[in-house]
Amino acid sequence: MKGNSRLRQILTPGLIIMLGLAFAAGAQTYPNSTFQPHSEFGRAIDFLWNRLLLLGTIVFVLVEGALIFVVLRYRRKGNETSRPPQTHGHAGLEITWTIIPAIILVFIAVPTVKTIFQTQAKVAAGALQIEVIGHQWWWEFRYPEYGITTANEIYLPVGRTVNFKLNSNDVIHSFWTPQLGGKRDVIPNRTNNIWYTPDSSLKSAVWNGFCTEYCGTSHAKMRFRVFTVQPAEFASWVAGQQRPAVFGATATPATDSAAPAAVPSNGAQLASLPAGYTFPRNQAEFDYAKPHTPVPPDMHFTKGLTGNAARGMQIYSSAACIGCHMIKGNPSSVGVVGPNLTHIGSRATLGAGSFPNTPAYLALWIKNARKMKPGILMPTLGLNEYDPQLKKPVEKAMGGLDDQQIADIVAYLSSLK
Ligand code: CUA
Repeated sequence: MKGNSRLRQILTPGLIIMLGLAFAAGAQTYPNSTFQPHSEFGRAIDFLWNRLLLLGTIVFVLVEGALIFVVLRYRRKGNETSRPPQTHGHAGLEITWTIIPAIILVFIAVPTVKTIFQTQAKVAAGALQIEVIGHQWWWEFRYPEYGITTANEIYLPVGRTVNFKLNSNDVIHSFWTPQLGGKRDVIPNRTNNIWYTPDSSLKSAVWNGFCTEYCGTSHAKMRFRVFTVQPAEFASWVAGQQRPAVFGATATPATDSAAPAAVPSNGAQLASLPAGYTFPRNQAEFDYAKPHTPVPPDMHFTKGLTGNAARGMQIYSSAACIGCHMIKGNPSSVGVVGPNLTHIGSRATLGAGSFPNTPAYLALWIKNARKMKPGILMPTLGLNEYDPQLKKPVEKAMGGLDDQQIADIVAYLSSLK
């Protein structure tokens, strides 16, 4: 008995300290935590959560306290054999325990309903409109104001309200950017809206976005990135995206990792940024948003191959690619089934946020994307590669490409900045 209470004396404060540390760590270092909101939407939800947690804690402590008091105060003592007085129907007591929860509910309902109205309201005029189309399993993003169509990566200027018009091409998805705001279902044949304003004090940063409604085999690989950037950076990005693909026939080794992009200073020269700003991948903040999906260990690509972009464009333009993908500036590539690849070279990730967009990953992706992301429409293109959906190897007659041809296509696509 004595040893038991000693153990409890040690364990209880230890447990409290550990819980406290866990909460502190969750709030400070977890990049997908909603407890660090960066928009009015996020703060409204955060306020509501804190309020409900506080009220819930008060109710818990009072109820459990009363319970423990009653258990201790009215427990059977010594050799007592008589039953305590049995009460049935006590009007005063029943009115009390009806009124108290009613009052508590008022304190919960008022801020909850207020927040619902606040976050479901129609967006104010002048907001940046972005059309979001959910696909199994990637995101299409359109900026109708600027005539831009892109995939899996969103750029937002800080301080400007953005409204996402959510639609689905197939099944129900859900759009969620934990630290900025969300989440809201993306439903076929119905348009949902969600809007928020990234804090104007935010420095340029990248955030993780997720599909949070189970939507099939590769639901977990239906992610996206949100880049909140300074208005001048946004204007430069828009100008770059509006151009057709800039294609320079430069050789890119398919087995090297991409050279890091130049880091623009976030300072004085912002106003004179040339067209085509993209968030620098080597910035420290990008770390937590880097994809960590492992590549299946049985995937290989011939080492040391150097692709030729001009040749790659020819191979790409006569391969199955053009049936699904659009590249503005390549007249034969007009497909709309898959992601728009006009500026694929400027994107940070591949396969809806699943892999880093480097020539090495892109080569594997083209070779056998279905192995890296099960269930997808993107066909297996590598010659003699086993297609997990067709359940047979890809032959030349089916459009199979050898590693050199893939390296050429990689060189072409990587050059589309
Ligand atoms: Cu889309 Cu889960």
